[in-house]
Amino acid sequence: MSSRARSRSSPAPGAASDAPPRKRSPNAAPQWPSPTSPEASRGVADEIVRTGGQALALTCDVTVSSDVQTALRQCTEAFGRLDFAFNNAGIEQPPTPLADITEDQWQRVLDIDLRGVFLCMKYEIPLILAAGGGAIINTSSGAGVKGFPGGGAYGAAKHGVIGLTRCAALDYAAANVRINAICAGIIETPMMDRFSGRTPEGRERVIGQEPVGRMGRPEEIASAVMWLCSDNAAFTVGHALVVDGGQTVG
Ligand SMILES: NC(=O)c1ccc[n+]([C@@H]2O[C@H](COP(=O)([O-])OP(=O)(O)OC[C@H]3O[C@@H](n4cnc5c(N)ncnc54)[C@H](O)[C@@H]3O)[C@@H](O)[C@H]2O)c1
Repeated sequence: MSSRARSRSSPAPGAASDAPPRKRSPNAAPQWPSPTSPEASRGVADEIVRTGGQALALTCDVTVSSDVQTALRQCTEAFGRLDFAFNNAGIEQPPTPLADITEDQWQRVLDIDLRGVFLCMKYEIPLILAAGGGAIINTSSGAGVKGFPGGGAYGAAKHGVIGLTRCAALDYAAANVRINAICAGIIETPMMDRFSGRTPEGRERVIGQEPVGRMGRPEEIASAVMWLCSDNAAFTVGHALVVDGGQTVG
């Protein structure tokens, strides 16, 4: 992280430092992942502070407008301004042929993975403009640039994130707000644990999609996000950066 980036302020909903979704659809409860606990979020914030950074753990459901606005207000009260945002919150979808995806599943995935990014950007952009400019990175996926069987809702949301990113990037490029997306491959996180079923066979199956023969590490996504936030990416606008070990190349 550059010293400039270090001294600036950025929320990252859905990073380990965010808080769990508060509202849940009663019909969907059994198949949605367990959210990050507030304790885990606080633990990450404490770790950042212990290693010389600044962090604040906040509770925010990205599908709830008032939550997003409150979290951003708390963030700007704590740090004085907003320079960067990493809109990373997301849920996966159990692989399901399209006609078998329930309306509730569709709605939940689109609400969190796409509408959540819209709501975050809607309230982040005025704050970043007030700070004189900055950068936003939205999390898409390999599923945002390529179709995967059984991934209709997730793929629609992640393709949508790229469209949203490109349009918003054009709206604010002249105002010095750079908006880009990151498309992650198979990354070793709790989501991938759930997706692979936490079994050696499941892990082998997903790693089989990766030409590099391994899962990516969260740090490998974080470093790409940090680059997109930095001045080294000053000419990078509306881009969907694929960081996926080659998963979507072929
Ligand atoms: N892990 C992968 O292989 C992979 C690949 C491509 C894209 N992604 C995307 O990366 C992002 C992070 O995923 P991850 O693998 O770390 O998953 P994860 O399940 O480990 O973490 C997701 C985070 O999102 C939060 N979240 C879920 N719903 C929320 C809501 N309504 N409001 C606020 N926060 C909410 C959870 O609390 C959790 O902290 C997601 O957008 C995901 O779609 C992941």
